[in-house]
Amino acid sequence: MSALAVEVWRGGAQGAFQSFEVPRHPSQTVLDVVTYIQRSLDATLAYRFACRVGMCGSCAMSVNGVPRWTCRTHVDKVARENKLVIGPLRNLPVIRDLVTDMRGFFDKWARAKGSFAGTKTKRDDFARVAPDSADRRKVDAGIECIGCGVCYSACDVVAWNPDYLGPAALNRAWTLVKDERDVVKHERLRAVAGDAGCHACHTHMSCTERCPMGLAPTAAISGLKRAVLGSVLKGEL
Ligand code: SF4
Ligand code: SF4
Ligand code: FES
Repeated sequence: MSALAVEVWRGGAQGAFQSFEVPRHPSQTVLDVVTYIQRSLDATLAYRFACRVGMCGSCAMSVNGVPRWTCRTHVDKVARENKLVIGPLRNLPVIRDLVTDMRGFFDKWARAKGSFAGTKTKRDDFARVAPDSADRRKVDAGIECIGCGVCYSACDVVAWNPDYLGPAALNRAWTLVKDERDVVKHERLRAVAGDAGCHACHTHMSCTERCPMGLAPTAAISGLKRAVLGSVLKGEL
């Protein structure tokens, strides 16, 4: 069985890469490699995962310089000359080894008013949204975000301007702006209209290229820009 040469980030922001040799297996994922290191070579390695099947969004790391969900990334597809370099996601503080502090990322969802606000109570009938309405289709296109942070790590504007809300929070805001049951649309558009909001996006598309769920935050952000402009012209903002 051949071996894979793996460099893994150790420590905090001032840490360094450590070398390991990991046996190759058919259908081996990058998360399998990290798990092997932690279970068989160095039990102190810190990393994060939960579902192993692409649902929880917790296993994202930088793999050979590219942010990816590691449980669904096969070594065969990303190893270069039988080597892997695995580090923590960019644009987030490193807690230790491969674990980043996601608080800033999710705080921005709150800043973008990423929570649904409706008027129905549990005593009301279910609110119904026509499945084929134009707005519902726009929501459908962005709703499957798993909060993995891959887009945020891929975004150069986040790197230049740490205050920028980023693609995931703005994508979330867009799905709520297009949700006909939501009642705080103007507040939400105001929240994403500032210097750190949708207009800061340079349309680089890295988020859309990298999103493992196939979402298109760039299109969502363009939708927000149009919605903000429309509301400004109507004197609503
Ligand atoms: S399209 Fe906008 S949000 Fe997406 S990576 Fe580029 S600058 Fe960032
Ligand atoms: S938009 Fe895609 S890449 Fe960004 S957090 Fe959601 S699932 Fe992950
Ligand atoms: S472990 Fe849940 S998405 Fe990878």
